[in-house]
Amino acid sequence: MAAKIIDGKALAAKLRSAMADEVKGLVARAVRPGLAVVLVGDDPASQIYVRNKTKALAEAGFACFDHHLPADTAEAKLLGLVAELNADRAVDGILVQLPLPKAIDSKRVLLSIDPAKDVDGFHPENLGRLLIGEPRFIACTPYGIMKLIEEAGTTVRGASAVVVGRSNIVGKPVAVLLTAADATVTVCHSKTKDLPAVIGAADILVAAIGRPEFIRGEWIKPGATVIDVGTNRLPSGKLAGDVEFAAAVLRAGAITPVPGGVGPMTITMLLANTLEAARRRAGGC
Ligand code: GUN
Repeated sequence: MAAKIIDGKALAAKLRSAMADEVKGLVARAVRPGLAVVLVGDDPASQIYVRNKTKALAEAGFACFDHHLPADTAEAKLLGLVAELNADRAVDGILVQLPLPKAIDSKRVLLSIDPAKDVDGFHPENLGRLLIGEPRFIACTPYGIMKLIEEAGTTVRGASAVVVGRSNIVGKPVAVLLTAADATVTVCHSKTKDLPAVIGAADILVAAIGRPEFIRGEWIKPGATVIDVGTNRLPSGKLAGDVEFAAAVLRAGAITPVPGGVGPMTITMLLANTLEAARRRAGGC
C-alpha cells in the first residue's frame, strides 16, 4: 500500500491560521509580534527565502522589519545594526539570512544576536539549552520536522530513528529532539559504513544530506515514517528531495513530499518562535 503523504503545506496553513488568531489578540493588547529580517547582498536563493518569510509574516499579522544591505557591507556596520535591533522593543525576533558574504564572519554575527531574540535557534546558548532539555527557541527546520512526525501519528517513544546528516542547524538538533522524545537515535554521515543496512532498521528516517534522491526506496524499512529535508534543484529546474520518492512511497508508512513537506513548516516555525518571543514581551518577561 502506498504511504500516507504528510502534507506540510496543509499543516502549515492550519498552524498559521491559529497563530494569526492569537496575533489579533496580542495586537488588541498593543503587542504586535515583530521580526527583523536582515539580508546582506543579492544572493537569488536568499532573496526568494526572505520574500517567502516576509509574505508569511504579513499574512499572519506580524510586523516585519526588512533590512536589505549591500553585498559590500562592512562587518562592523552589520554588527551595529544587530545591536540596534537587540535594543529595539518592537523587535521580538531577529533573523540574519545565511549565507552572509565571505568577508563577514557569520559566527561573530550570529553570536551578537540577543539569544532572547534568536528565533532561528542558531545561537550557541539556544543550541546548548536544547541539549540540556531546557529549550527556548528550537531551530525552525528541526522543530517543523517534529511537528510533521506528530502529524503522521508516528509513535516516537521507543522507535529507532535514523538521521542522515549532522549539520548544526538540522541533523544535530533533530537528533537531540528525537532523543528527548525517547527514540533511539543513530546519526549517519558520509563516513557511515553500510548506510542501507542502518537505514533499513529505521522506524523514523530523517534525510538531511542535500543530495538528490541519494536514499534509495528499497533501503527503507516497510512502514517507516520518512521525513525528507532535501530541496535539491535538478538541472531540469525541478525540485528533488534526498529520498527517491517514487520508490520510497511504495514502502514507507508515511512520507513527506518535496516540495510541500518540510519547506512550509520551516517558515511556520519561524512564526511560532517569533510569536513565543512576543508572548514573553506581553507577559513582561
Ligand atoms: N538560510 C537558509 N535557511 C535559513 C534559515 O532557516 N535561517 C537563516 N537565518 N538563514 C537561512
